[in-house]
Amino acid sequence: MKKTIKDFNLNDKKVIIRCDFNVPLSDGKITDISRIEKSIPTIKYAIDNNAKVILMSHLGRIKEESDKAKNDLGVIVDELSKLLKQKVTFINETRGEKLEQAISNMKSKDVILVQNTRYEDLEGKKESSNDKELGSYWASLGDIFINDAFGTIHRAHASNVGISSNIPSGIGLLIEEELNNLSLLDNPEKPFVVIMGGAKISDKIGVVENLVKKCDYILIGGGMAFTFLKSLNKNVGKSMVDEESKDFARKMLTKYNKKIILPLDIKVTKEFNNTSPSQIVDVDNILEDDIGLDIGPKTIELFKEYLKGAKTIFFNGTLGYSEYSNYEQGTKEIMEYIISLDAKTILGGGDTVAASTKFNIKEKVTHASTGGGATLEYIEGKTLPGIECISNK
Ligand code: 3PG
Repeated sequence: MKKTIKDFNLNDKKVIIRCDFNVPLSDGKITDISRIEKSIPTIKYAIDNNAKVILMSHLGRIKEESDKAKNDLGVIVDELSKLLKQKVTFINETRGEKLEQAISNMKSKDVILVQNTRYEDLEGKKESSNDKELGSYWASLGDIFINDAFGTIHRAHASNVGISSNIPSGIGLLIEEELNNLSLLDNPEKPFVVIMGGAKISDKIGVVENLVKKCDYILIGGGMAFTFLKSLNKNVGKSMVDEESKDFARKMLTKYNKKIILPLDIKVTKEFNNTSPSQIVDVDNILEDDIGLDIGPKTIELFKEYLKGAKTIFFNGTLGYSEYSNYEQGTKEIMEYIISLDAKTILGGGDTVAASTKFNIKEKVTHASTGGGATLEYIEGKTLPGIECISNK
């Protein structure tokens, strides 16, 4: 058992909390604040227990100097301080005198946010490659380390593994909540039905391989469906196909043909936008110049038949291009259906959770995970460095 924040006396201690504030941005504005909201309970717990709270996170990926301005962590300060209902002091540095001075001036209940940890990636990928010196420097700024960045547990960074190798550490309330909920998928109550969509199969091979053994059915939609259909030599026109994964798809269909359920019909168009004319066609009637962007009504009914009576449902990847209103129907209807069932419902992956927010489903499922790759790696059963590194009880 790993230590949690509740195993420490935080009073007057400098507590470094690693959050995952890697929020989606568009034109410099945050488009989904879920990850900030979900980090609040741990931060509040530390404040309520009189800690001096030092927050760290990465944002985006920093490969060149110009990436810094686009991924300035200062973008979250207003939202964070609104949610915490208190001042958050942003230090526009990842190391040095200004940061050290600000920390030494802290009083209990003060909150400091350090600049994007991946600014340290510009010279030698220090954060992302868990540079020893950087990890021990950051650890020297605090007394206790709490990892609450669930979305980053599959990464071994200086700001999680590095810090925890140097000072006492525990997990935060968000990681605890995520692990409790995702563990429902370890021994799921049956019938267990998995809904998978999204673009690429190659990112999800391990997940499909693991879940197909445990589940009763996998319902496949989204871009993934076309790779499966093409592996059966069906014409999918200009729809998205993950060529590298065709052999994998064929193997899965041969081995688990009763479990893997593919669409019967597809909503197709000739141009990739929200306004060009579209129509529903059976999967055997897709033309050379068709682009499939959603599942059709027969498929929606078919999927509902398989979902009826399910006790556990895991939904990963949208069933159509749900950013476009013309192609959101499949994802929306199936999401609305699963929350009407007497089942544990778990959503994973950034796009899936974003769609659930759009369709007002998120608050009604058992669990909407804040992880993307982290959630998938958890389900694959991989070792997760961000958890491994935490002290045992
Ligand atoms: C995520 O959004 O999945 C995490 O924050 C990790 O980000 P990364 O894929 O850039 O490492």
